[in-house]
Amino acid sequence: DLPSSGTSTAETEPDGLIFIGKEEDIKKSQRTTAKVNGREVVVFYHEGKFHALDSRCYHEGGPLRLGAIEDINGQACIVCPWHKYVITLETGEGLYEGINPLEPSPTPQWQSKGVKQRIHKVTIDNGNVYLSPPDLSVSFDSDYFADKYKNGGDLSM
Ligand code: FES
Repeated sequence: DLPSSGTSTAETEPDGLIFIGKEEDIKKSQRTTAKVNGREVVVFYHEGKFHALDSRCYHEGGPLRLGAIEDINGQACIVCPWHKYVITLETGEGLYEGINPLEPSPTPQWQSKGVKQRIHKVTIDNGNVYLSPPDLSVSFDSDYFADKYKNGGDLSM
C-alpha cells in the first residue's frame, strides 16, 4: 500500500512515476497540485479525463490552479485568472481570438498559437494517479516560470 500524499509532497515510485494522489480523491476535488521534479503541476479531472499541466501560466506565471475551465470550440480549456489567456487542457495550446481582415465581414475565430504550456503524462494504476517526469529535451514557454517558481511558492488552494 502506498502512503497517502498531501498536495505538496509526492513520492517517487520505483518505475520512475510520481505518485500524485488517489484517483477517487481527485475525481471528487476535480483538481489538485503536486511537485514534479520541483516544478508546480496542476492536475484536473474534467468530464471523465485527467489532465496535468505546469501550474504557472506561460504568459507571466499566473496560477492556473485557480483558473476556471471553459469549453471553447469544443475543447476544454483553462482560463488563467491573471490576464485570461486560454490554454487547452488536452494539448497545452494557447488559443487566441483572431480576425482575418481580408474577409468580407470579419468575425473573430479561435486560433492556436501552438503548444505553450507543458502538459504532463497522467497514469492511473490500481486507483492511484501518477505523473511521468518531464522530458526536458523539449522545451515550452511555461518552462521559464516552472523554473522561476521551482521549489518555492505556496501550493495551497
Ligand atoms: Fe496567465 Fe497572464 S499570466 S494570462
